[in-house]
This record gives sequence, structure tokens and C-alpha cells, in this order.
Amino acid sequence: MADIPELRKFVAPEFLFGLGARKLSARYAKNFGASQALVVTDPGIIAAGWAGELIEDLEAAGIPYRLFSDLTPNPKAAEVMAGAAVYEQERCDTIIVVGGGSAIDCAKGIGIVSSNGGHILDFEGVDRIARPGPPMICIPTTAGSSADVSQFAIITDTDRRVKIAIISKTVVPDVSLIDPLPLTTMPRELTVNTGMDALAHAFESYVSNAHSPVTDLFALEAVRLLKAHLAAAMDRPDDIDRRAGTMLGSLYAGLAFSNASLGLVHAMAHSLGGYLDIPHGECNALLLSAVVGFNFAAAPERYATIGEVLGLTMGGLGAAEQKALLVESLHEMKKSLGTDRRLSQLGVTPGHLADLAAKAINDPCLATNPRRPTRGDIEQLYAQAL
Ligand SMILES: [Fe+2]
Repeated sequence: MADIPELRKFVAPEFLFGLGARKLSARYAKNFGASQALVVTDPGIIAAGWAGELIEDLEAAGIPYRLFSDLTPNPKAAEVMAGAAVYEQERCDTIIVVGGGSAIDCAKGIGIVSSNGGHILDFEGVDRIARPGPPMICIPTTAGSSADVSQFAIITDTDRRVKIAIISKTVVPDVSLIDPLPLTTMPRELTVNTGMDALAHAFESYVSNAHSPVTDLFALEAVRLLKAHLAAAMDRPDDIDRRAGTMLGSLYAGLAFSNASLGLVHAMAHSLGGYLDIPHGECNALLLSAVVGFNFAAAPERYATIGEVLGLTMGGLGAAEQKALLVESLHEMKKSLGTDRRLSQLGVTPGHLADLAAKAINDPCLATNPRRPTRGDIEQLYAQAL
């Protein structure tokens, strides 16, 4: 008899995947009974034209709206509170967000505060939200964060210079309209960094202590899709088939990590993002191979399986050779994607490492990492990427 898996749940929102999905937001807003929608987006998405298209669709359907776009990458608690104030003043009852992970996390925060009152930082942790937010419709514009399907919202506390994680079923959006077309306006660097974020989600959820047979399916298929399509999507930004491949890879990685959680790469990336405001995707891209090297011995068979999915021949090799091959292939992948910068090029100095490690050791993502690091281990890993 096969081993009986441990008890696990799997949460996913309703989502539509495919060309034209983004055009359905007005119909869904109507279905949710929206009388005034708060449209959350960011200046880059306005410039690319995707927010304007959404607004035209809402106007054509006669759905009143207010726009909120005062947000930055690594969304800040003050930005969430400003958005929540607009939501309340304008008597909104639905949120529609078009953007990447930062806009979506900010929108999730606005939803939490609008339904529960208080300050967004009061909701840090797992299952701390008493009342679900208003109906929320997502149109993701990157293939990376998968905030549009996840139980996570990551908000920066600028006073403490840390990112807080809010993890709750109530922050899973009501519907995600996942359309590959908005990806075609992503700059090259954003394509790569968000794609590497998705790859890190797939790796971390596959080796997570909380993985399940269901999250495994999604995690491995995400690795395969991202390996198959990311480089081509970077080289040919208008190739919609390749964009769709990375979008599907990101979705699968999102469904996996939303339910299996993450690990040390994200703990370290959150620390870098909160302390030095470095973009999340690039943090993951820079840290993934070092963490694989550190974690490998705790989950050798799982990493070997990931290696096989990446096209590496793992059979017949010892664990040390498998580890070296996998780490080397990640270096090669980063080089071919042109994302082989060092942390020092992003403003990190040796003097930052102790503080960064002290913050990373408290990140909730560490709970599911297959190997428990010390602060010293984490400091050394940052040093490797310096
Ligand atoms: Fe991430």
C-alpha cells in the first residue's frame, strides 16, 4: 500500500486563464453587485495602458469607480492605509486590482483594513483576520508573484524596516483574470526577475515541510514550464505563446506555494526588501542557488527530482555531484538570463549582513524550510551572494 499522505488542505480562488480574461472584470464586478469599485494600480501599469483599458471597460458597463495608484514596489503600510482611507471616503464596496504583486498585496491590505478597521500592521501572522474583505477581482500583469491566487499579503513596515507577512484564506481574491497579454509590456529585467521569483516559489514549495501530493504536482510542472519558456519570453516579449507559458508556470507555482508555503530564499528576500527596499524578484534570483546549496542535504531526493525536471541527468550520481550539478545549472540559467548581479551591486555592504540575518531568522517562511539555519548560516549565505 502506498504511504498515506499527511492531512493537507488546498485553497485556490476561481480563476480564468487565457487571452481575453482581463476583459471580464466589469462583468464580474456586476455579478458581485459593485456600486462603486476601487481600482488599485500603479504608475507603470497606467503608463502601459492596462489601467486605462480597465477603466474604459468599467465606464462602458456603467460601473462607478475611484482610482488609487499611490503605491511603490514593496508596498508600504502607509500606502495601504492611504488606499483604505480612499476606499472608505468614496464608499467603495468592491476592489479591482490591475498590476503586479505589489499592487495586489496593497489591494489585499486595503481590503483587510476596510472590513476589520485598525491598522494593517495589526494583522501580521497566520489567520489573524476576523472578517473577510470586500469582493476582490485581480488582473495580474506579471508572471511571478501569483499574489492573485495566494493566501499571502506582504507589506513593508517602514518604521521597523521589515516586511510583514499576512497569511489567511480571507486574502485569497474572489476571482483572478489571468491573461498573458499584459505581460507583453513588461521590460526585459522585470520579465526575468518575476520569472525567477516564480521559479523560487516552485523550488521552495516542492521542498517545503508542508508540501502535499497536490502542491507537488503544481510545483514540478511550474519548474518545467518556466524552464521551457522564460528565456524565450525574455528574448521575444511579444511572443504570446511564450508569455502564456510563463504565466501558467507562475500560476502553478503560486498554487503550490500558497498551500505549501515557502522557505529560506523568501525569508532572506523579505529581509532584503524590508531593510533596503530591493525588488523582490531580483532578491530571489540572487539567492536561490546559494540556498539550494545549503538546503540540498536535507531534501536530496526532492532536489534531484527538480534537477531531472530541469533536464539534468541526476541518475547514477552521488548526492554531492547532484548538488553541484543543480547549483551550476542555476548559475548558468541566471547568466543566460542576464541576472547575475551581486548583492553589493544593489547597495548591500558587509556591514548590513548581521542586521539582514537577524531579520530573516524571524520570517515565518523559515518554518517550512527543510533545514533549520542559524543566524550565522544566513549571514554566510548573504555573504556568498555579496
Ligand atoms: Fe516571491
